[in-house]
Amino acid sequence: MNAPCPSLPATPRLLLAPMEGLLDPRMRAALTGLATYDWCVTEFVRVSQEVLPQRAFLRLAPELRNGSRTAAGVPLRVQLLGSDPGRMAANATQLLKLAPAGIDLNFGCPAPQVNRHRGGAVLLDEPDLLYAITHAVGTAIGGRTPYSAKMRLGVQDKSRAVEAAQALEAGGAELIVVHARTRDERYLPPAHWEWVGRIAEAVKIPVVANGEIWTVEDYLRCRAISGRADAMLGRGAVADPLLVDRIRARLAGLPEETCAEAWPRLVPVLMTYWQQLRAELDARHTPGRLKQWLNLLRRHYPDAERLFMIVRELRDAASIDACLTQFVATSLPQARSGATSAAG
Ligand SMILES: Cc1cc2nc3c(=O)[nH]c(=O)nc-3n(C[C@H](O)[C@H](O)[C@H](O)COP(=O)(O)O)c2cc1C
Repeated sequence: MNAPCPSLPATPRLLLAPMEGLLDPRMRAALTGLATYDWCVTEFVRVSQEVLPQRAFLRLAPELRNGSRTAAGVPLRVQLLGSDPGRMAANATQLLKLAPAGIDLNFGCPAPQVNRHRGGAVLLDEPDLLYAITHAVGTAIGGRTPYSAKMRLGVQDKSRAVEAAQALEAGGAELIVVHARTRDERYLPPAHWEWVGRIAEAVKIPVVANGEIWTVEDYLRCRAISGRADAMLGRGAVADPLLVDRIRARLAGLPEETCAEAWPRLVPVLMTYWQQLRAELDARHTPGRLKQWLNLLRRHYPDAERLFMIVRELRDAASIDACLTQFVATSLPQARSGATSAAG
């Protein structure tokens, strides 16, 4: 087992990643209610032509009505994605009226339809534009809210990674999250954590490591290789909602909750998530969302695997209602109180 590096802070910033189509307000509420994050970030808000109406921000970030905090009180930064400095600045100004707990810029999205329209990771080949966007948005923000940017290591290769990070810093970003892969590497392991360290040495602002942290051991390896204690957790946090607290416990030398111990606490949250999906989404879209979470949870939780194998055959929400009610009643009596109305 890796020991924590003594020269790095024992209480790092640990952040919950933005994940479009997965980490929506319901999932943010679930995950930030189960464990302790310093802050989280919305799915990206696409800035194309106009200044977006306030409802566009509120749709992706309803927490803005709650002081830009999740129900558990975790600050939420709103992420903007776009390539036109003026429009990005105008939208940041609009967003500021809703008092976000921070604004983050997306320079990491690899999706072809986003990159085709000059959004996300494709801009990493254009440091001058990175600077222009960051500077325009930073000027609009004028220090009124924390300001960060999230980048990958490049488009096809890593040769301009440091230059890109320096452009973001020169433009005024106060912190950079580095997803340690290029655009072309998509989500394929490994993440190149050593590059996080190279970037951190080349800028003065804080640099947060991101990519392929699924376990406490991954975090400790990332920390040792990158030399950064701060980390952002993405899929690993959805797969194991207690991971962030396990990391904190390991660093503090405290006992860590095992998955077996955590599962009874997790089930009522899973049921609440399902109920919220049922209440807020078209029924056709709800089974996919639940299966997506269970598919990640089953990496660590044997009961999630069992539930996934049953649920994956079900196509309609009503069948899943019945299945979940039965699952809770038969397999987890101690979780029943929080989940009796899973069938709605
Ligand atoms: C389904 C999905 C959606 C994502 N959406 C966003 C996004 O909206 N904005 C962003 O900056 N990164 C997004 N990412 C990237 C993640 O924030 C993170 O950088 C990446 O998943 C690597 O971290 P991980 O290995 O811990 O998951 C997304 C990733 C996934 C898998």
